[in-house]
Amino acid sequence: MPNYYAACTLGLEQVLADELASLGADQIEVKKGACAFAAEPVVAYRACLWLRSGIRVQQEMARGRATGRAELYDLVKSVDWSRSIAKDGTLAVDGAVKDSWANDTRFPVLVVKDAICDQFREVHGVRPDVEKDRPDLPIKLVLRGDEAILYRDLGGAPLHKRGYREIQHKSPLNEALAAGLLLLAELDPMAPLVDPMCGSATFLVEAAWIAMDRAPGLGRSFAFERWRDTDQAAWQSAYDDAERRATAGQDRCPQLAGNDRHPGAIAIAEQALRSAGLTGKVTLRHGDAGDWVPPFEPAAVVTNPPYGERLQPDAAELVDSWRALGEFLHGQCRGATAHVLCGNPDLPRHLGLRSSRKHPVNNGPIECRWLRYEIDAIGEVRGR
Ligand SMILES: C[S@@+](CC[C@H](N)C(=O)[O-])C[C@H]1O[C@@H](n2cnc3c(N)ncnc32)[C@H](O)[C@@H]1O
Repeated sequence: MPNYYAACTLGLEQVLADELASLGADQIEVKKGACAFAAEPVVAYRACLWLRSGIRVQQEMARGRATGRAELYDLVKSVDWSRSIAKDGTLAVDGAVKDSWANDTRFPVLVVKDAICDQFREVHGVRPDVEKDRPDLPIKLVLRGDEAILYRDLGGAPLHKRGYREIQHKSPLNEALAAGLLLLAELDPMAPLVDPMCGSATFLVEAAWIAMDRAPGLGRSFAFERWRDTDQAAWQSAYDDAERRATAGQDRCPQLAGNDRHPGAIAIAEQALRSAGLTGKVTLRHGDAGDWVPPFEPAAVVTNPPYGERLQPDAAELVDSWRALGEFLHGQCRGATAHVLCGNPDLPRHLGLRSSRKHPVNNGPIECRWLRYEIDAIGEVRGR
């Protein structure tokens, strides 16, 4: 069975491991920001289609000692690359280097390209083109100490780029992070759910798709679809199955509502919901979270309020946002469970609630906590 490496946001490794296990992956090893696993190729195709928390799925093509150009060149040439692409296919090589003979990725990446191009020239008399934007064969080279690992990336574009967010809100959550946080929260997928500071509605879309059993990769194309050794029948059957499940689940959307005080955010959220096939399934409102009365009684709240690192409004404005969120939670969410993403430890106290769980997770470079609050019937908090 081929070996694979799936990447995720730091802090979501166990969520990713659980997702991989449910897709049929074997020998799952949790790493920092990733899981290694072994699987039949069809499991890797399904991973591209179904992983909610994963960002990339890469297949290991070769691993060996490489302490200089010659060894790396030979290692690359030991792989038959014509099993991946035809002579008119395109490729791109990306690299990562740590404690290696190479100071940076530029030279070793060139060695990899040269070795593949030489192999094609020797066999077919032509070399494949290098294409940065949508290569047929995206390759990743990892040089670590004396070891080199060569991967081919099944997705091409990262898996979090689902395609429903054509316009970006100022500080949007990565879709895979939003979905991973929802899975981490272990909510009942059918629980009435609100996001009082919804921005571009990432949590709402991902929550709907989880409840509706819609694969996040439906409607996208992946690099592996263009590989010569892809089992097209197995892929087609995995895709058909995902389409059947999406059709069966299309009426299984819980009550969902979002609010944001920024009119631009609401316009972007509306467009995202349309692109995600959720028109009419989610209620949006423009206004301050502090005076929002959702259209139903929420059982779950998930939100990503501003915490300063990226939006950088002044501190008083940040405190106001957190106080408004506190008012909303106290006033509208009795009996609900709330999850709040926070990248600034000074802010949660303005909610006037005590968290029952703090899970460390990164939002890009920002170290955050996914805070959980059980809000009881009188608006107080029970620690667990
Ligand atoms: C970090 S962004 C949320 C991004 C969102 N999760 C996404 O994926 O697009 C924070 C959002 O909180 C909103 N916000 C801040 N204070 C607010 C308040 N008092 N009431 C409502 N929305 C507020 C901002 O307009 C912004 O859209």
